[in-house]
Amino acid sequence: MRSVLVSCVLLCILAWCDFEIGYGQMTYNVLDHGAVGDGHRDDSEAFLKAWNASCLDKGTPRLVIPGEKTYLLQPTNFSGPCQSSSIHVEISGKLLAPSPDAWKECVDLWLTFSEVTNLTVSGSGEINGQGSLWWNKYDLLNYVNNYKVQCERPKALRFYRCDSLQLSGLTLADSPRTHISIQYCNYANVSYLQIRAPEDSPNTDGIDISMSSNVNIHDCNIGTGDDCIAVNNGTFIIDIKNIACGPGHGISIGSLGKNGDHNTVENIHVKNCSFNSTMNGARIKTFQGGSGYARRISFEEITLTTAGHPIIIDQYYCPEHDCENSTSSVQVSDVTFSGFHGTSKNEQAITLNCSQSVNCVNIVMNNINITSAVASEEVRASCSYVNGTSYATVPQVPCLSSKA
Ligand SMILES: *[C@@H]1O[C@H](CO)[C@@H](O)[C@H](O)[C@H]1NC(C)=O
Ligand SMILES: *[C@@H]1O[C@H](CO)[C@@H](O)[C@H](O)[C@H]1NC(C)=O
Ligand SMILES: *[C@@H]1O[C@H](CO)[C@@H](O)[C@H](O)[C@H]1NC(C)=O
Ligand SMILES: *[C@@H]1O[C@H](CO)[C@@H](O)[C@H](O)[C@H]1NC(C)=O
Ligand SMILES: *[C@@H]1O[C@H](CO)[C@@H](O)[C@H](O)[C@H]1NC(C)=O
Ligand SMILES: *[C@@H]1O[C@H](CO)[C@@H](O)[C@H](O)[C@H]1NC(C)=O
Ligand SMILES: *[C@@H]1O[C@H](CO)[C@@H](O)[C@H](O)[C@H]1NC(C)=O
Ligand SMILES: *[C@@H]1O[C@H](CO)[C@@H](O)[C@H](O)[C@H]1NC(C)=O
Ligand SMILES: *[C@@H]1O[C@H](CO)[C@@H](O)[C@H](O)[C@H]1NC(C)=O
Ligand SMILES: *[C@@H]1O[C@H](CO)[C@@H](O)[C@H](O)[C@H]1NC(C)=O
Ligand SMILES: *[C@@H]1O[C@H](CO)[C@@H](O)[C@H](O)[C@H]1NC(C)=O
Repeated sequence: MRSVLVSCVLLCILAWCDFEIGYGQMTYNVLDHGAVGDGHRDDSEAFLKAWNASCLDKGTPRLVIPGEKTYLLQPTNFSGPCQSSSIHVEISGKLLAPSPDAWKECVDLWLTFSEVTNLTVSGSGEINGQGSLWWNKYDLLNYVNNYKVQCERPKALRFYRCDSLQLSGLTLADSPRTHISIQYCNYANVSYLQIRAPEDSPNTDGIDISMSSNVNIHDCNIGTGDDCIAVNNGTFIIDIKNIACGPGHGISIGSLGKNGDHNTVENIHVKNCSFNSTMNGARIKTFQGGSGYARRISFEEITLTTAGHPIIIDQYYCPEHDCENSTSSVQVSDVTFSGFHGTSKNEQAITLNCSQSVNCVNIVMNNINITSAVASEEVRASCSYVNGTSYATVPQVPCLSSKA
């Protein structure tokens, strides 16, 4: 009789536990799954174990990475689809990439989250790519399984096919290449990030977005020496707000239309951003020879401090100087630049260099006052093959019809 009662109670407890494991908010701590966090031993296996456990949890699990520790991680894929209705990854510690000669394989990505819906990655932790060890050696030679191979510099953090993504609070530092890449994600909110790399680090974009829609990026401080944010092909409905950008290359749409590609970008809105000592400010760049469009784009309430090219549309973009002339081009239309104030480093503060065959259409400038960073110098605008309207714009843009 007594044993029946005990079994009954046990059964109930088990059932309750099961219920908790199945549908509650369970915590999976990487330290409980074997992570050491000494910055030397490889913690990737422990992270994957904790990830797998979270991903199989049918509730709303939290994957916890405690602070005051440094976790060395080899290239790792945190992949779904998961059973969970949401997963919250809380990063308090520091994630460290191996030095280039210690990568176990040559891959172009360090940390990837793929095919996870309702993923939140947040915390006060840091993701550090140890990029300085890569930047001075473009042709890094690595030994993988005793074969000498050439590794490309990897991107630090990628989100691939992650719908309803939240990313906030973290610091990203010194990625070997792009810091954050968002691809094929629908509905993402990226906020309160610090992204830092030295001004002279190569191709270290802050955030790159492609093939994604409904992405909000706000309240981030980005200074990496390259594009703070680059919005690329296949992106729609992107809102970028309250970004302090610099040093770097500004916020860019593109580059688009490389190698004759058909590219489309639409409904991109950038508001209340500052550009401090950047090479560009608001930029749209396309290669000759492409097709498609970049349209319904706005840059509003922009503060400039010694920005190189505060406003630039360049349809002859060609960083390697090896491009052929072509009459086709990605069409740029319905672009508004409004509320730009501050100083330009270059005399040519506004550049609208549009395609001779596929002109820029309906470019609007409103309430713009850009002065020279050098006292007593004037700034000017240059433009070709563009139509549109300007209101209260200094310097005056000759191609646009000026209205009071
Ligand atoms: C995690 O799950 C994947 C896919 O099920 C499996 O291939 C891998 O071995 C697991 N890794 C660990 C460390 O449990
Ligand atoms: C991660 O997944 C990508 C494919 O999405 C693959 O190319 C890469 O080798 C994987 N990396 C690791 C470390 O498993
Ligand atoms: C994601 O979260 C929403 C809202 O909580 C929920 O309705 C939806 O089912 C979740 N998606 C998945 C794949 O679990
Ligand atoms: C994005 O996430 C942050 C932090 O979780 C939150 O404060 C903010 O309201 C969210 N923004 C949007 C547009 O959802
Ligand atoms: C650009 O994005 C569109 C989706 O909008 C896609 O159909 C097309 O294949 C992409 N082009 C390239 C060259 O990737
Ligand atoms: C504009 O952005 C800055 C951060 O660069 C922020 O401090 C400020 O509150 C924002 N202003 C508004 C009106 O949101
Ligand atoms: C611009 O950046 C410099 C150097 O990082 C900093 O000292 C200065 O305060 C910044 N200016 C503004 C207006 O943010
Ligand atoms: C390409 O076009 C530009 C502008 O029309 C012209 O200045 C340049 O000479 C052309 N280059 C070649 C290689 O035809
Ligand atoms: C446009 O760009 C081409 C190629 O970089 C250059 O030759 C030309 O001078 C530029 N035109 C203007 C008006 O800046
Ligand atoms: C533009 O800004 C400068 C410096 O702040 C100021 O002196 C000038 O009056 C402004 N011009 C216009 C047209 O608002
Ligand atoms: C710009 O060009 C388009 C298409 O040719 C035309 O519909 C529009 O009226 C032009 N706008 C101005 C301000 O000239």
